[in-house]
Amino acid sequence: MMKDDNFLKEHNAKALWHPMGAPADSMAQPPKIITGAAGVSITDIDGHSAIDAVGGLWCVNLGYSNDVLKGAIADQLQSLPYYSAFAGTSNPAAIEASVAMQDMFAADGMARVFFTSGGSDSVETCLRLARQYHRLRGQPTRTKFLSLKKGYHGTHFGGASVNGNARFRTAYEPLLPGCFHLPSPYTYRNPFHETDPAKLAQNIAAAMEDEIAFQGADTIAAFIMEPIQGAGGVIVPHETFMPLMREICDRHGILMISDEVITGFGRTGHWSGARHWGVKPDMMSMAKGITSGYFPVGAAMIGEKVAEVFETADSAEAGIYHGYTYSAHPVGAAATVACLAETQRLQLDQNAAARGAQLYAGLQGLAAKHDIIGDLRGGHGLMAGIEFVSNRDQKTPMDMATMKRLHENIYQAGVMVRLVMHSVVMSPPLIITEAEVDKIINAIDAGIMAL
Ligand SMILES: Cc1ncc(COP(=O)(O)O)c(C=O)c1O
Repeated sequence: MMKDDNFLKEHNAKALWHPMGAPADSMAQPPKIITGAAGVSITDIDGHSAIDAVGGLWCVNLGYSNDVLKGAIADQLQSLPYYSAFAGTSNPAAIEASVAMQDMFAADGMARVFFTSGGSDSVETCLRLARQYHRLRGQPTRTKFLSLKKGYHGTHFGGASVNGNARFRTAYEPLLPGCFHLPSPYTYRNPFHETDPAKLAQNIAAAMEDEIAFQGADTIAAFIMEPIQGAGGVIVPHETFMPLMREICDRHGILMISDEVITGFGRTGHWSGARHWGVKPDMMSMAKGITSGYFPVGAAMIGEKVAEVFETADSAEAGIYHGYTYSAHPVGAAATVACLAETQRLQLDQNAAARGAQLYAGLQGLAAKHDIIGDLRGGHGLMAGIEFVSNRDQKTPMDMATMKRLHENIYQAGVMVRLVMHSVVMSPPLIITEAEVDKIINAIDAGIMAL
C-alpha cells in the first residue's frame, strides 16, 4: 500500500539521495513528487498536470499509456520473471529481442547485440570491446579513447573518462588515463570563435588529426560521439561533421562508437542518429527508447567488422568476460520486443521529424521575440535546446536563480522542461501531437513573460 501524501511530503529527499544534485539542495528544496502519467502528460502530488516535454529523461518515446508494452511486461513477469543469460543459458524473449534489434539496425551496419541495464553500461561495453577488438587483431597498444567536449556518456568510470563536462568529472578524478577530448561542434561558443558550422566541423577535424598525430594512431582504440549532443545542451553539428569524423577514424584504424542512448529509436527523425547523418559506425551504445523507459534496458550494438574479428578469433582470447546480471533480462527483453514493434508500427521516426520541425519553428519565433534567448538549437527531430543569456551581445549566461524561476514558470504554465545549466532542453515523447507541441511553445513563451 502506498503511504499517504503527508508521509510522502514529509520524507521527501530525507532518505533518498538523488542523482545529479546535492543532497542538501534536495532537502532544502524537495523535488516535485510525480504520482501519475498518461499520454504525454504527468501529474504531481498536488494534482497539477503538465505536458512532459522531457519525455521522462529523453526516453518515454511511446508516452505513458502504451498498453501493448505494459501487457508484454506483465505477461513476461508471469511466465519467466528472471533467468541469467550468462553464456550457457538464454530465454525466448532475449532471442526475439536480439533479432528485433538486428533487424532495426542492420541498415547502420550493425550485426550483433549485447544487452545491458542502461546507457552507462552500454558505453562501458563498447569501450571495453573496442580495446579487446584491437588486441584480437594483434594491436594491443591501441587502448586510448578520443571524444568530444560537451559530450555525455554516462557515469561509469569509463564513460565519465570520455565525458566532456567538468561537472561529471572533477569530484571523481583521477579518471581513466589515455582519454583525450576534442572541441565540441558548438557554434555559439568554441575556441576557434567560428560561428559557421561547416567551418567549425573542419576545424575540429583538423584538431582531431593533430591529436592523432601527437598520440600516435597505433595507441588509439576508439572515438566516441553522440550524433547530436544531448545532455550537453542539445548541440547539433553540421551535416558534414560526423562523416568527417568517420573518414578520419577509418584512415587511422580507429573504431567509431556512436552513442545513440538519446538519438536511437527515432528521436532525430531516423532510427539512429548515425543514419540521420549518413554514417555507419562500428558500434552503437543504446538505451532509453529501447523500452521507452518502462524497464531498465540498454544495448551495445556491434558492427559487422568488429563482430567478425570476435567470431573468428581463438575463443580463449575472444571471451567476453564482461556483462551484467540483468543482461538480456527476460522482462527487459519482452519490453524491448514490444517497444520496437510499437515504435515502428507508429512510425515514430516520421512523427519526430514532423513535430520536431514544428517545435523548432515555434521556438525560432520565441527567439525573435525574446532578447534573453542567446542560442537556439534543434531542427533535427524532437530535440531542442534554448540557451538563455542576460546580455545577448556579451553572451552572458543567465544566472541560475532566474533559470530556476523560468523552469517553475513554464511548469505552472503546464509544461515540464529540463534545465541544463542556463539552457532549457526538450525531448518530448515521439507520439506527441501538433496541438501538444503548440502548448509547449506557448508555455515557454508564458514562462519567459512571467519572469
Ligand atoms: C548519450 C548518452 N550516453 C549515455 C548515457 C547514460 O545512460 P544511463 O543514464 O542510462 O546510464 C546517457 C544518459 O542520458 C546519454 O544521454
